[in-house]
Amino acid sequence: MTDWLRGEVVELKRWTGNLYSLRVDAQVQPFRAGQFNRLALDVDGERIGRPYSYVNPPDSSPLDFYFITVPDGPLTRRLIDLRPGDGVWLMPRAQGYFTLDEVRDADTLWLLATGTAIGPFLSILRTDEPWRRFGNVVLVHAVRTAPELAYGEVIDEIARAHPQRFRFIPFVSREYTDFALPGRIPQAITSGALELAAGLPLDAETSQVMICGNPDMVRDTSNVLIERGMKKNRRREPGHITTENYW
Ligand SMILES: Cc1cc2nc3c(=O)[nH]c(=O)nc-3n(C[C@H](O)[C@H](O)[C@H](O)COP(=O)(O)OP(=O)(O)OC[C@H]3O[C@@H](n4cnc5c(N)ncnc54)[C@H](O)[C@@H]3O)c2cc1C
Ligand SMILES: NC(=O)c1ccc[n+]([C@@H]2O[C@H](COP(=O)([O-])OP(=O)(O)OC[C@H]3O[C@@H](n4cnc5c(N)ncnc54)[C@H](OP(=O)(O)O)[C@@H]3O)[C@@H](O)[C@H]2O)c1
Repeated sequence: MTDWLRGEVVELKRWTGNLYSLRVDAQVQPFRAGQFNRLALDVDGERIGRPYSYVNPPDSSPLDFYFITVPDGPLTRRLIDLRPGDGVWLMPRAQGYFTLDEVRDADTLWLLATGTAIGPFLSILRTDEPWRRFGNVVLVHAVRTAPELAYGEVIDEIARAHPQRFRFIPFVSREYTDFALPGRIPQAITSGALELAAGLPLDAETSQVMICGNPDMVRDTSNVLIERGMKKNRRREPGHITTENYW
């Protein structure tokens, strides 16, 4: 039997028609930035739970989870009915290995996300660790349309705290903007557009890369990095590419 913990909803923030942040008060055990918990609701006598990354840094409250409603998604279409004071189930302990514990030191840490997978990176970037261990940090957020570039205030706060060492590079793939890179991350790595935008090399000598989100993006991006001599990071065989798929 899984032991669940009851949390209380503090806020459901709506960013767009299908992007939300759920803020919850709950007495969870300490976690590492990059880890995930599970959120669950009882539906017709059955508890439906799914993993969600922490967006908030450790030792902060409320807990913050960033999610997209997927068509006919059994849990997400119900999460958006929650109101402050409602209950939601969580696990007492976080899970997952998508943390800086698994990543070796390097000149540059590249954090590549699609959609809601920017969440774990915003948790990591609000701890001291990346700033102690890496010279530069590049955060890349790829979305379909500009309004999906959520958490701008948090990103601005990180940029203000680390003005020389932090770069934020948005990608908007399905509409024109005058500020984001067009297209997709793997193509921009192959063409050199991503390195040009960052003003930094992306290679095995200088870089560690964490990739999170859409599994097709994770695969395609890993492949172009492998083509340029980087290796997947495994516990027994350390490399340069650390990944987490959201589905
Ligand atoms: C380790 C881990 C961490 C995760 N963290 C998050 C998170 O922080 N935020 C979040 O929104 N989701 C996250 N997910 C996905 C999440 O657990 C659910 O799958 C998702 O919220 C949909 O739940 P559902 O029950 O409505 O539909 P499901 O039946 O779980 O999913 C239906 C389909 O929706 C699509 N889908 C699922 N998640 C996403 C997504 N995030 N973005 C785009 N399409 C998606 C996939 O095609 C999937 O097959 C994570 C998954 C894993 C494995
Ligand atoms: N975002 C929306 O407006 C919207 C609206 C309705 C429903 N949904 C549902 O939400 C889910 C998608 O959510 P999302 O928009 O956050 O995620 P997404 O489809 O993963 O798109 C996010 C970004 O990832 C890019 N991408 C997709 N596949 C890639 C690959 N193989 N390599 C590199 N980049 C890749 C996309 O580029 P491309 O644009 O080139 O694909 C986009 O820029 C789906 O279930 C969808 O049905 C989303």
